[in-house]
Amino acid sequence: MNTRVLTGITTSGTPHLGNYAGAIRPSIQASNQPGVDAFYFMADYHALIKCEDPQRIARSRLEIAATWIAAGLDPDKVTFYRQSDIPEIPELCWMLTCVTAKGLMNRAHAYKAAVDQNVARQVEPDDGVNMGLFSYPVLMAADILMFNANRVPVGRDQIQHIEMTRDIAQRFNHMYGQGNDFFVLPEVQIDDEVATLPGLDGRKMSKSYDNTIPLFEGGAKALRSAIMRIVTDSLEPGQPKDAEGSHLYSLYRAFATRAESGEFRRQLEAGLGWGDAKNMLADRIEQELAPMRERYADLMARPERIEDVLQAGAVKARRLSQPFMARLRDAVGLRAMLAPAAGQAGANAGAGATAKKHAGKQARFVSFRDESGKFRFRLLAADGVELLLSEAFDNPKAIGGVTQAMQQTSFDGLCTKVDGMVHVHVDGVLVARLEPSQIESVTLALSHS
Ligand code: TRP
Repeated sequence: MNTRVLTGITTSGTPHLGNYAGAIRPSIQASNQPGVDAFYFMADYHALIKCEDPQRIARSRLEIAATWIAAGLDPDKVTFYRQSDIPEIPELCWMLTCVTAKGLMNRAHAYKAAVDQNVARQVEPDDGVNMGLFSYPVLMAADILMFNANRVPVGRDQIQHIEMTRDIAQRFNHMYGQGNDFFVLPEVQIDDEVATLPGLDGRKMSKSYDNTIPLFEGGAKALRSAIMRIVTDSLEPGQPKDAEGSHLYSLYRAFATRAESGEFRRQLEAGLGWGDAKNMLADRIEQELAPMRERYADLMARPERIEDVLQAGAVKARRLSQPFMARLRDAVGLRAMLAPAAGQAGANAGAGATAKKHAGKQARFVSFRDESGKFRFRLLAADGVELLLSEAFDNPKAIGGVTQAMQQTSFDGLCTKVDGMVHVHVDGVLVARLEPSQIESVTLALSHS
């Protein structure tokens, strides 16, 4: 069995160099490993929680998709899709919402941080908090559980969400699984190997610190000019530099081989000037990015190609999510109203299996000649149980019209109560007599015949 690795990226911004080295590049590498089935998606529903600008959402989805493809993601290998193209995800989200304790969500870091800030500002604790933010972890759980991911590579800030996902999955399994778990409990994957790039000011590169180096935006020029703005100490060329302690070196290492990094380090320690060092860094990064940037520009110029890739990804993903959702709907009792099999009316154990047996089979009419030589028909449930036996007809041709009418009109409308029995009339002709208790199963069967 392959390991399913799944991760999402919120589509509220433009990918920067830190996103590339910290998430995109390692994810693409992981997807090429044997034994791995990768599911990578754009968490565009999540983006709505914090971004109310439709232009920005649309732009970000496009840029992020183009970035992943340009960076080498192979859509034939990876299941690559948009969250919002998978209607089963919000559907599952609701089911999970209904098994999630509110108290669990009260403890979510992102929500708590918002409350703490409000308290500090002496406003209402929930000021500016929407239900999307509050329920954020449930939607994330739906993303993960929909595809039963085994591993979820994320940043440290997301660990709690994966723990909550496990909690929610366990609860659902316990409530509805009947010893047969629906959901795999996902493991969080934190890669210490993966580079966390320093930004221009040396803090972690992040949009919220406004210290990012652009990835493709603005081309090679913007990349170089950002690198020139990286903060360094004021040592002059010729003076030995502390390579280990310099952000330039950390950045360089994230893009260079071990040998190249060793050489860069030696040069810094031998007094390489910061300006020259920055140029070397820009050259090295550019070497990796240049071919991707070209593909990126190509893709951005023809967004319909990206749309095609994502539509195909959604089809691939839904091949899994649709049948799984059908099972989940059945598990919680949102079932097709099929006639219960004999002896099973009202029983709920094994109902899932029953519904499955019924799928693909249908109730049907069977006509025959009785002992007296007259013609009758039966309505049989999918499992062959007789639900209705007709009155006798002289002319077998009449039966076709009668059964057709029964399928096409509301069965209730054909029924009249007579002396505690139910008489079924079609065009004024009595066609069957039933016990009132049979009406329900006949009605259900007719809707599936
Ligand atoms: N919350 C994640 C982030 O901000 C993005 C995300 C949404 C995600 N759904 C996910 C990550 C499911 C992993 C799995 O980084």
